[in-house]
Formats: sequence, structure tokens, C-alpha cells
Amino acid sequence: MKTALVTGASRGIGRAIALRLAADGMRVVVHYARDADAAAAVVEEAGRGSFAVRASLPSELDALVAALPPLDVLVNNAAIGLPAPIEDVTPEAFDEVFAVNVRAPFFLVQRALPVLKDGGRIVNISSGATRIAMPVGIAYSMTKGALDTFTRTLALHLGARGITVNTVAPGVVDTDANASWLRGNAEAEAAMAARSALGRIGYAGDIADVVSFVASERARWVTGAWIDATGGAHL
Ligand SMILES: NC(=O)c1ccc[n+]([C@@H]2O[C@H](COP(=O)([O-])OP(=O)(O)OC[C@H]3O[C@@H](n4cnc5c(N)ncnc54)[C@H](OP(=O)(O)O)[C@@H]3O)[C@@H](O)[C@H]2O)c1
Repeated sequence: MKTALVTGASRGIGRAIALRLAADGMRVVVHYARDADAAAAVVEEAGRGSFAVRASLPSELDALVAALPPLDVLVNNAAIGLPAPIEDVTPEAFDEVFAVNVRAPFFLVQRALPVLKDGGRIVNISSGATRIAMPVGIAYSMTKGALDTFTRTLALHLGARGITVNTVAPGVVDTDANASWLRGNAEAEAAMAARSALGRIGYAGDIADVVSFVASERARWVTGAWIDATGGAHL
């Protein structure tokens, strides 16, 4: 049985990815930061010997690495947003968003490489925000731009081991991250839906299905790719 680590798997897109990979037959390491009950519910639904690991990233990376079994798939999903234009970004907020969104996946991969099997998969969850200019999230977009470069560069570096490295880039998805301005706000939802060629906002399962493909044997010839999962937003 294959084993996948999904960071930030207690809710949102990470939760959907964890459950999708479990449905694909994998055991899942359900990483989370705060909500043990939510993580336990994902573990129960995933089954197959899945288990949860708590670690705030990047500060508690050691705890996560220590708990890792040999891995077939590593999904860097955990991240935070920073909805602020350049004028309002403090040095502290800048450092925090880079620590969680860039430093954590960088050193998680570095530390997990010894347990990641040859022929394995790394999937980085970026954002459609790196394909467009989004001034209101400038620092956040920059973190995802760094992650995109991480993907392409790692793909070349790890190809000799048969490990593929790809980016999956969601657009606006209905998760807690957007709940404050999107959920129950029909006007905001309609505005976001209008940006997509397919005329709706995204749902976590839309993203999880793409990750499922990238993590599978069917994607063996895809590496270093930036896979658009925005429903054709801003085309
Ligand atoms: N939602 C969107 O519209 C959208 C669009 C483009 C890209 N994305 C990307 O998709 C991914 C998932 O987004 P989402 O909307 O599902 O996010 P979410 O609902 O806010 O969930 C974030 C997850 O990351 C974990 N996390 C956050 N900070 C952490 C930290 N410091 N250490 C460890 N874990 C931490 C959270 O754990 P706790 O629950 O324990 O706090 C949670 O499980 C992110 O990479 C995000 O940038 C999302």
C-alpha cells in the first residue's frame, strides 16, 4: 500500500486531497496544526491505517519529520494567506507568510528526501495568483511564485530518482480561507464565478481530483509542470 503525507489536511483542500488519496488506496499521514478533532475525523474517514501528526510549521518541523514512515507521495498544501497591498504588509507578516508558505515546504522536502521512495511524487499546492497580477495579495502571491520555482528546479534535481515534482494551482475555492468574504455572500460568489471560464467557483474536490491524477502512475511522464486548476480563471 502506498503512503502519502498531506500537510494541512485537517480541513479545506488538504482534507479533500487526503480523502481522495485514501479513496485511491493510500494510507495517509494527516498533518495538522491546531484542530485535533478535525484531523481525527479525517483519519477515521480515510481508514487504511492513516494517522494524524500535529506540528505547527515551520517551527515544529522536527516533530513531523520524526513521525514520517517511508513515503510515496508528499503534498505540500498547508499555507496561510495575507490579504494586504504592499502599503499594509508589515515585516512581521511578510516573514510569517514566507515562513509558512516557503520555508516550511522547502525544509520539509529537504528532511523528507531520505524517506521519500524512488519513483515517488511531490505535489506543491500553489495558486492561480502567480499567473496574474493580484496587488491585494502581493506577498502571498510572491510566496507561491517561490513555490513554483521550487517545483521546476526540484523536478530536474530529483528526476534521476524517478521522483516527479509538480505544481497544482487552484483559483478561488470555497474553503475556510475565503469564508469571511465568500460564504453566504451571493454577490461575491457571482463575481468570482464570472472570472472562471466554467462560470462557478471551485470546490475542494475539484483540486483533490487533479492531485489524485498527478500522484498516480498515470502521471508518470509529467514533471516540473504548473497545472492550472482554476476552472479557467482570467484566461
Ligand atoms: N482556498 C482558495 O481559494 C485557494 C486558492 C488558491 C490556492 N490555495 C492554496 O490551497 C492550499 C489550501 O488552502 P485552503 O483554502 O484549504 O486553506 P485553509 O482552509 O485555510 O486550510 C489551511 C490548512 O493549512 C494548515 N496550516 C496553516 N498554517 C499552518 C502552519 N503554520 N503550520 C501547519 N499547518 C498550517 C491548517 O491547519 P489548521 O487547521 O490546524 O490551522 C489547515 O489544515 C493552500 O496552499 C492555499 O494557499 C487556496
